[in-house]
Amino acid sequence: MKLSVSLTVNGKPVCAEIESRTLLVDFLRDRLRLTGTHIGCDTAQCGACTVLIDGKAVKSCNVLAIQARDRQVTTIEGVATNGTLHPMQAAFKQHHGLQCGFCTPGMVMSAIGLAAETKNPTAEQIREALDGNFCRCTGYHNIVKSVKAGLENMEKVTS
Ligand code: FES
Ligand code: FES
Repeated sequence: MKLSVSLTVNGKPVCAEIESRTLLVDFLRDRLRLTGTHIGCDTAQCGACTVLIDGKAVKSCNVLAIQARDRQVTTIEGVATNGTLHPMQAAFKQHHGLQCGFCTPGMVMSAIGLAAETKNPTAEQIREALDGNFCRCTGYHNIVKSVKAGLENMEKVTS
């Protein structure tokens, strides 16, 4: 069955006809060519597909595109401003929070989502918050450091 969907993606209005079964991750990647949102498992385990819906981190392989109707979706392509990295991206760069980079967009989006939920989380709380995001390369140590620094950077920008 075909459905019409209107939503906002990275600040831009988008309208499309989609199959009712279309997953948000496939809509973003295949229709909008926003391929920074990765598919690592397709079964809501790895977190590589994480995006923000109305500021909340969600696994876009676990959401139908139609469920994002009239919502604000943000992908990794939408977080930098005029070529300047988002404070969380800058922290991942500075603290070597990535190696192959496959998990990184999802990690960054989950970390940005965490900012709306917790102020000054401990390393333990960051690990808990990221337990749905898998990384095969880094051992997580530098990711946790990056997220902590990124949250501090975000706090400075908004205060
Ligand atoms: S692709 Fe969505 S959680 Fe792995
Ligand atoms: S940096 Fe390679 S999977 Fe995380």
